[in-house]
Amino acid sequence: MSQRTLVLLKPDAVRRGLIGEILGRIESKAGWTIAALELRTLDRATLETHYGEHEGKPFYEPLMQFMSSGPSAVVVVEGERVIEGVRALAGPTDPIAAAPGSIRGDFGTIVRENLIHASDSEESAERELKIFFPNFS
Ligand code: PPS
Repeated sequence: MSQRTLVLLKPDAVRRGLIGEILGRIESKAGWTIAALELRTLDRATLETHYGEHEGKPFYEPLMQFMSSGPSAVVVVEGERVIEGVRALAGPTDPIAAAPGSIRGDFGTIVRENLIHASDSEESAERELKIFFPNFS
């Protein structure tokens, strides 16, 4: 089943020059394509909408500060089972727990600066694509 997912290459990935490396891993999966791509410094309002479910958690404010600290690459990826697939390529939230071969396992440092966000379900993907690309159809 072909799907679309929202991927953010976070400010640490952009600062460290890892856009090409990470998108290369995603693009090398047969049948997956980059459907939209933009470098954007995310504003507080957008981040509050995106991460609203985590408001009040101890990591919320540090996450907001980090995510607005510089440009992110905001990406739509399209393809067969791409929602589950990009999450698998990324690895778990905590880079220390991420296996070598995954994006976070190979390049991650600390949990806050974990390089990549990817939608975790069809419902999340639909919601997040509307936040970041409201005019994309
Ligand atoms: S939870 O509470 O289990 O739902 O949280 P989780 O799904 O692991 O993470 C939700 C998003 O918050 C980020 N996160 C953090 N940021 C900063 N510091 C800490 N300690 C931290 N822990 C989790 C995590 O990367 C998730 O963001 P995205 O953009 O989805 O990766």
